[in-house]
Amino acid sequence: MKRLLVTLSFIITAAGAFAQAQRSETILKEWDFRKGHDIEATEGWEAVSVPHDWAIYGPFDKANDLQTVAIVQNGENVATEKTGRTGGLPYMGKGAYRRTLEVTEGQLDGRRHILFFDGAMSEAQVYVNGEKVCFWPYGYNSFHCDVTEHLKAGENEVTVLLENRPQSSRWYPGAGLYRKVRHIMLPKVHIPVWGTYVTTPYVGEDYATVNVKTKVNGVENGTPVTLVTEIIAHDSGKMLARSIDTQPIFNGELEQNITVENPQLWSPENPALYHAVTEVYLGGSIDTDWNMERPAITVTHGKDKQDCHGTRFGFRTIEIVPDKGFFLNGQARKFQGVCMHHDLGPLGAAINKAALRRQLTILKDMGCDAIRTSHNMPAEELIELCDEMGFMVMCENFDEWDIAKCENGYHRFFNQDSGNGQIWAERDMLNMLHHFRNNPSVVMWSIGNEVPSQWKHEGVKVAAWLQDICHCEDPTRPVTCGMDQYNSVVINGFAEQLDIVGFNYKVDRYIPAYQILPQKIILGSETASTVSSRGVYHFPAKLGAAIMHEDHQSSSYDTEYCWWSNIPDNDFAADEDYPWCIGQFVWTGFDYLGEPSPYDTDAWPNHSSVFGIVDLAYIPKDRFYLYRSQWNETDATLHVLPHWNWEGREGEVTPVFVYTSYPSAELFVNGISQGVRKFAEPDGQVPCLGEKAMERFRLMWNDVVYQPGEIRVVAYDSDGNAAAEKVVRTAGKAAALKLTPDRDVLNADGEDLCFVNVSLVDKEGNPVPADSRLVKVKVSGAGSFKAIANGDPTCLESFQQPQMHLFSGQLTVLVQAGTQPGDISVEVSGKGVKKATLKIKTE
Ligand code: GAL
Repeated sequence: MKRLLVTLSFIITAAGAFAQAQRSETILKEWDFRKGHDIEATEGWEAVSVPHDWAIYGPFDKANDLQTVAIVQNGENVATEKTGRTGGLPYMGKGAYRRTLEVTEGQLDGRRHILFFDGAMSEAQVYVNGEKVCFWPYGYNSFHCDVTEHLKAGENEVTVLLENRPQSSRWYPGAGLYRKVRHIMLPKVHIPVWGTYVTTPYVGEDYATVNVKTKVNGVENGTPVTLVTEIIAHDSGKMLARSIDTQPIFNGELEQNITVENPQLWSPENPALYHAVTEVYLGGSIDTDWNMERPAITVTHGKDKQDCHGTRFGFRTIEIVPDKGFFLNGQARKFQGVCMHHDLGPLGAAINKAALRRQLTILKDMGCDAIRTSHNMPAEELIELCDEMGFMVMCENFDEWDIAKCENGYHRFFNQDSGNGQIWAERDMLNMLHHFRNNPSVVMWSIGNEVPSQWKHEGVKVAAWLQDICHCEDPTRPVTCGMDQYNSVVINGFAEQLDIVGFNYKVDRYIPAYQILPQKIILGSETASTVSSRGVYHFPAKLGAAIMHEDHQSSSYDTEYCWWSNIPDNDFAADEDYPWCIGQFVWTGFDYLGEPSPYDTDAWPNHSSVFGIVDLAYIPKDRFYLYRSQWNETDATLHVLPHWNWEGREGEVTPVFVYTSYPSAELFVNGISQGVRKFAEPDGQVPCLGEKAMERFRLMWNDVVYQPGEIRVVAYDSDGNAAAEKVVRTAGKAAALKLTPDRDVLNADGEDLCFVNVSLVDKEGNPVPADSRLVKVKVSGAGSFKAIANGDPTCLESFQQPQMHLFSGQLTVLVQAGTQPGDISVEVSGKGVKKATLKIKTE
């Protein structure tokens, strides 16, 4: 990246000095925050750093947004008390942010001043010097307002008022200015925000074409404008092609076509990126001489540079072929995707790039190649990382259209006039499409999730309208919608009109849907919703829906699911058995705050989900290895469960499961073989459901009798040779804490994070799996304690206090880098065990 910045700045200077002031962008981090809307109050303001989530500091309370509702989409028709549905955190109510914005006289010379909000939760009213400059109700979308006319030289006061109504969400939405806020200054003649649209109409091995549409503001129609666009490789910083075009401007937009030789194609495996850097010049002319025998046109390029803007993009092709599936760069592949809600566990909704990178790093190791931004517009940082790290994105917008799922949800705005002649739904669509249509990672749009409108004829029209907006603004990507009302959508035309048929949890209906619908491909837009709590196992290991236990935890045998959902194995089978099934997006990659199914009805203190493959503390559950065994094609997987500390269960049946990419394995309990198991072959029976599917994807020894000691699994390759082994031992008494950081060196940027895993071990170093003692954390030096989490969905301890109880013998401490290079010291202690220390560098 450093290299690229050097190159870009070289280009800018090499092309000559700007006639006008250059554009600039300042992130507005420091704000004062106060609960309520009383902005005249002199007390109660607190200095905060934005991104900021006012609710994540808690405290947790059952009364926070307690919803007495019937969740219709879950098949309920009687209202009951839903506890922890939105996380049990105080997100509701009003909040105000204010700060000053310094502008010099010279900066009010005709340039434009934009306030850009990546997302504000919610119903944001923005004021500058006491005048209302904009309102944006949807908390997940980016929006910007031109505030030039409201500014004066000197200090300007910017105030943002927010309001979150109770019962406005089905999960924890967060609260406040939870994404970046920027002040963008644009020269008088400029490329506006989201003013470029880069597509690649032809992509081949030898060459590709780049089409760049550039909006230019601040000039009269008909004025000759010269655009110089250079295509630059992201990695090498090398300039590969340049186009200089002078054209009269009409409708504020110009178009260029550029050829690039030997393009590197973007894919999850090789996320090659490019930049189209566009300079805008005035002063050129286009003269036509009609007097000559053959009329001549003389074009003089402009030299008076006005603006320069870079757009990152990639070369890739996407295609949906009936019966054959989804093709990326000409190769068929199935989405190995996960759905992600936007919260970052103990950080709440406040966006942090290091935390997003940590999530994606874990998912990458699992073999995951796609993310669904369920059920709302993502943070810009997530899409940037998906571009860079190689994840295909289903970019989704809404969980509600005009019919309510939540009393105070988005339906209140969907059809409402936004004040400029468009309804809010249209404005929200346009902002999402304009924001992310240049990102190569985005491979499809989703216009909604399980919207109740699916049932109605009116909804069919709304779907068509939303899909048309996508096609109009971005004809390069297909459109889907997460549908769950099979009987309606297959008959009423809703499913038939979509580019991609996306079903949520209908793995048993894929075949009839495929037979009936004209698209001849099916996507599992949301799958599994298997529930499990990390490190907790219940006996007997029973396959079933809506199973609940006294301890309010779901079993890590990965056999429990919701009545509408299923175990991962059924979706693996569908991916394997149906060539026309284009893959899936699992619900969910990570646990999130809120929606604590099946413990959601009068089940406090549960307040976070257990759907995740990875828990709220960023620690993989057993299920992670099940997906990894199927999806990671480069690294072998061999994982055994459960743990082997079952005091009191001696002599009792304690099944052992192995998740592996090897074809067979043998299990030994205290040295005695329990037999070799291999995966069952598909027997042609479709759909492949229940235990039958488990036999295809898990190796299971269901009759193992527990005795303390060790379980050892030896994996065999296809020739029957021992290829890998794993041992799990009964741990002795807890002796020490152990710290494992995800990284040793952080950037001294005040934002970078280290995720330190804290685990308990016996004197031999064996993990002590069921311990829940309190541990205390001290961080000093060049960083600070940021947050803590243990992944227990029932834990009401604060994420912001440097102490917490372990859950299943582990937790995670988040340590944040300061702004000065140096060493950070971390010390974690617990009663009766040796404390652990760690040094992390920042530079
Ligand atoms: C789906 C829904 C998700 C989540 C999930 C839990 O129906 O789309 O948002 O609620 O169920 O299983």
